[in-house]
Amino acid sequence: MADEVQEIKDKLDIVEFINSYAPLKKTGRNFRALCPFHSERTPSFFVSPERQTWHCFGCNRGGDIYSFLMEKEGLTFGEALRMLASRAGVELKTRFSPQRQERKERLLAATHLASEFYHYLLAKHKLGEKTRQYLSNRSIERTSIEEFKLGYAPSSWEAAGKFLLSRGFKVDELLETGLIIEKSDIRHPTSDIRHWYDRFRGRLMFPVFDVTNRVVGFSARTLENEEPKYINSPESAIFKKGHLLYGLNLAKDEIRAKDTTILVEGNLDVISAHQAGFQNVVAPLGTGVTEAHAKLSKRFAQKISICFDNDEAGTQATLRAIPIAQSQGLEISVLQIKNAQDADELIRQDPQLFEKALSETRTAFFYLLSLGKGKFNATDTALSKKKIAALVLPFIARTPKEIEKDALVKKLAEELGISERAVWSDLEKTSGLENQRISELEEGENKKAETPKKSREILLAEHLLQLILASEKTVWVDEKFKTILSNIQKDFFVSDKLTEIWQSVEKFFNQKREINVKEIGKNLSPSSQAVYDLLILRPAAKIYEKEQEFLNDLQLAADELKKLFLRKKLQELSLAIREAEKKEAREEVDRLKKEFKETLGEMPK
Ligand code: CTP
Ligand code: MN
Repeated sequence: MADEVQEIKDKLDIVEFINSYAPLKKTGRNFRALCPFHSERTPSFFVSPERQTWHCFGCNRGGDIYSFLMEKEGLTFGEALRMLASRAGVELKTRFSPQRQERKERLLAATHLASEFYHYLLAKHKLGEKTRQYLSNRSIERTSIEEFKLGYAPSSWEAAGKFLLSRGFKVDELLETGLIIEKSDIRHPTSDIRHWYDRFRGRLMFPVFDVTNRVVGFSARTLENEEPKYINSPESAIFKKGHLLYGLNLAKDEIRAKDTTILVEGNLDVISAHQAGFQNVVAPLGTGVTEAHAKLSKRFAQKISICFDNDEAGTQATLRAIPIAQSQGLEISVLQIKNAQDADELIRQDPQLFEKALSETRTAFFYLLSLGKGKFNATDTALSKKKIAALVLPFIARTPKEIEKDALVKKLAEELGISERAVWSDLEKTSGLENQRISELEEGENKKAETPKKSREILLAEHLLQLILASEKTVWVDEKFKTILSNIQKDFFVSDKLTEIWQSVEKFFNQKREINVKEIGKNLSPSSQAVYDLLILRPAAKIYEKEQEFLNDLQLAADELKKLFLRKKLQELSLAIREAEKKEAREEVDRLKKEFKETLGEMPK
């Protein structure tokens, strides 16, 4: 697999690839653009064609072509690998067992073809007329039918199955996708003939896409008030309901742009919302919100806004979703629908009403509080206060940040007219193991996000190496340059990685008398490569036009670094001298003093 990963990288050009997402401009040896991951006015996003890497000095994200695609499309490594493999025309062999992989591809191909079949019937065929009328009565436009690739499954027992068999799919494959169902009662024990019938008949078809835009299954609504209202594809190797969000394939860019996922209850709510211009809207497929859903939405946004139906079931589903979203560290708010049953109905009344509801979105805390107040009537009896607190306290207990927790306790005490101490004491009884787990999770993430402050020595060493590498292909690489380099010692570099990079520079320069970024980077260890990439990608503090100016700065940087190194050495020596004097080790003292003097003499002015 490592081979394939590299092979794909070699076949694709990161500059060309990233250019399709963020227009790149050449700047020196690198390319730059406005960062596609955070908003900025001056570009701090750089791509190195030599190293095939990218880095944003604004938001500190970076990596290779895989990590770019993963970040940009919210994919896992496996998903990114698959997409890039097909783009590069590389066949993935070793990732999974080939049979299983091939099988999955077959199931996906069958499901995809089925979606085309159903869509054709709805979009073009006479059989789809009634459903077209139904959709039009519900104000669902033609463009939405196309975007969501809605379809119609005919009222036939075998139309879809026969069509798919005629295209070369096997009965057992179709059974596994759930597109057809086996008639177990008439299967003869000694006969090979299998009897089956279409699962979806006479229904409006909603194909379900995964994040990489593949149809993985269907959600099918009756048009005749039949029970059940919806029939979904069964769980299979390609369809995992708890891991899918309806509409995510179309919503992900907007979710990222708004840093918010809006979660509605039904497929039709999603379509209505998108049609009215609210494109960061998705829905779970009739299941409760799962941890996988929360993780999935967190790939694209930090915030989630729950907008379930305006009924008791919707409220209960909201209450169940809150701790799950919280467990993944999402910021949760609730968008309440009033004077309508659900998002779809509200938007159909007037999209402005949804906009208004959106602007009145409340944080989970205030939602719970007002829910409690509404449910338990008043805050004036001790019992009702207790009940309201009981609704809100578990939420506070799971809040990972102490400052926030503190603020919420204050607020709750104020709202209920009780003392903060009483709230804290109740909270103590509420917090449990689960809470502990969340704060650990949060801590881990903070650690990852913050970049440790670098010491002056590291900064200087990086600066020096950057200057040296920037002189690639310039006329500055001459005698004077050589002299400066020959005075640089490997001990000046306080980190292992920078030392390794320096040694590679030195070795190459001594052999070839030139600087070649690509060659110098070739034999570095992986962790040094990462540091090297940053040195290459970081824009230079200054653009040099005159050789003398450049050489002066190079000399200055080398001198400064040497001074830091020597100062440290002097400190160590004077400590050693004091120790030796204590021990009255005469010879040792003399030797050290001599060394001290010599070291002092080496100090650049
Ligand atoms: N659902 C399901 N099985 C059912 C009922 C519902 O899987 N028997 C799922 C569907 O994904 C549906 C969602 O739950 O989209 C919400 O259900 P509901 O509100 O009843 O359906 P809507 O899609 O909103 O349809 P409508 O607006 O016509 O009521
Ligand atoms: Mn609904």
